[in-house]
Amino acid sequence: MVLISGSGTNLQALIDDLAGQSALASIVGVVANKADAYGLQRAASAGIATRVLSHRDFADRESFDQALMGAIDTFSPDLVLLAGFMRILTADFVKHYRGRLLNIHPSLLPKHKGLQTHQRALDEGDLEHGATVHFVTEELDGGPLIVQGRVKIIADDDAASLAAQVQQLEYRLFPLAARWFAAGRLQLDNDRACLDGSP
Ligand code: GRF
Repeated sequence: MVLISGSGTNLQALIDDLAGQSALASIVGVVANKADAYGLQRAASAGIATRVLSHRDFADRESFDQALMGAIDTFSPDLVLLAGFMRILTADFVKHYRGRLLNIHPSLLPKHKGLQTHQRALDEGDLEHGATVHFVTEELDGGPLIVQGRVKIIADDDAASLAAQVQQLEYRLFPLAARWFAAGRLQLDNDRACLDGSP
């Protein structure tokens, strides 16, 4: 199950990855909080069921997240992937999917939680930058790390050039982590991400 808010290039990477292998897993559905999210078209083209649930139709974060849980659970997913889902989730939501909720974040966490990660990496004079897949916990962008990819920052880089490089990393890392989970190799164990039984 994949949650999106925008263009859905990470969703496309997941779709393409699954197309290239035998049926270890499938994407049972895509939910977007924006009706114009281009990723919805990507899902439809791949024959994946879609739902739109606009946060604007709800009075508060709690009621939106309750409805979102309802929508997700109709698909009975084993795993929920936040692929550019630009909403902060409530503790109830996070608890409900604990251990089966992954996010992709465009920085080398724990550096640069939140937004504008590429510019912040440049502003702080970082020598390297990257992307991280992590389990989602109550702390925003603070859950146990699963896998990271790195790029060197060079003098010519700007936020756009870093974004382009980091996105290429994301397209490899998120399907990789999803495959590990689908194969039963990845678990959240006592707040630690364990791959093949080791933290
Ligand atoms: C990605 O860079 C992801 O790290 C961030 O939002 C972006 C989503 O892009 N959280 P897309 O919708 O997958 O193209």
